[in-house]
Amino acid sequence: MQTGDPVPSIWADDVSEVLIGSADIALRISQVAQALAHHYCSLNPLLLVVLKGSVMFAADLSRALPIPHELEFIRAKSYDGTQSTGTIHIQGLESLALSGRHVIVIEDIIDTGLTLRQLYNSLNKVGAASIKTCCLLEKDTARRGKDAPVVDHVLFRIPDKYVVGYGLDCDQRLRHLSFVGVYRQ
Ligand code: XMP
Ligand code: MG
Repeated sequence: MQTGDPVPSIWADDVSEVLIGSADIALRISQVAQALAHHYCSLNPLLLVVLKGSVMFAADLSRALPIPHELEFIRAKSYDGTQSTGTIHIQGLESLALSGRHVIVIEDIIDTGLTLRQLYNSLNKVGAASIKTCCLLEKDTARRGKDAPVVDHVLFRIPDKYVVGYGLDCDQRLRHLSFVGVYRQ
């Protein structure tokens, strides 16, 4: 599916617009995977996948990344429906051995930046050799805190709208869509 294609009628009650089509997602992933491969070629980086929203992105990026690397998973949750609760819950970090590792945080979307800031606060204590971030989407929003970490690799910058699909959900629904769409509120 291409960006701007009509929303398939089965999803038309939930999605108002195809913001990023699957073909464009695949193209950007292959570009970013090449850049990461170049940078990390003999470093065996660890893709630290922030569940659940990054699941599709991480699976596709990992398979496009033509160098040895490993995957680990943590869980972060801040949203209730389409509203950020302002409180971030991070689970799973305590059981990982990250000392000396080259960590690439794989995030679905950066909005206020709270999740990433909290994650960096925790990651800075684990003795990683390096920490970078690769984010599928960056929202153009005034709600971003000034102290939000800079995202190293952003695949798409999007307007300040609630989006679903390609891993992103609204109360667990619509994650399975192959494209990123604007949620019809
Ligand atoms: P913050 O505000 O902490 O948000 O940067 C990051 C997390 O919030 C979720 N989020 C969204 N999820 N559609 C979603 O499905 C959205 O438009 C959206 N905006 C933020 C997401 O889990 C992200 O990791
Ligand atoms: Mg979510």
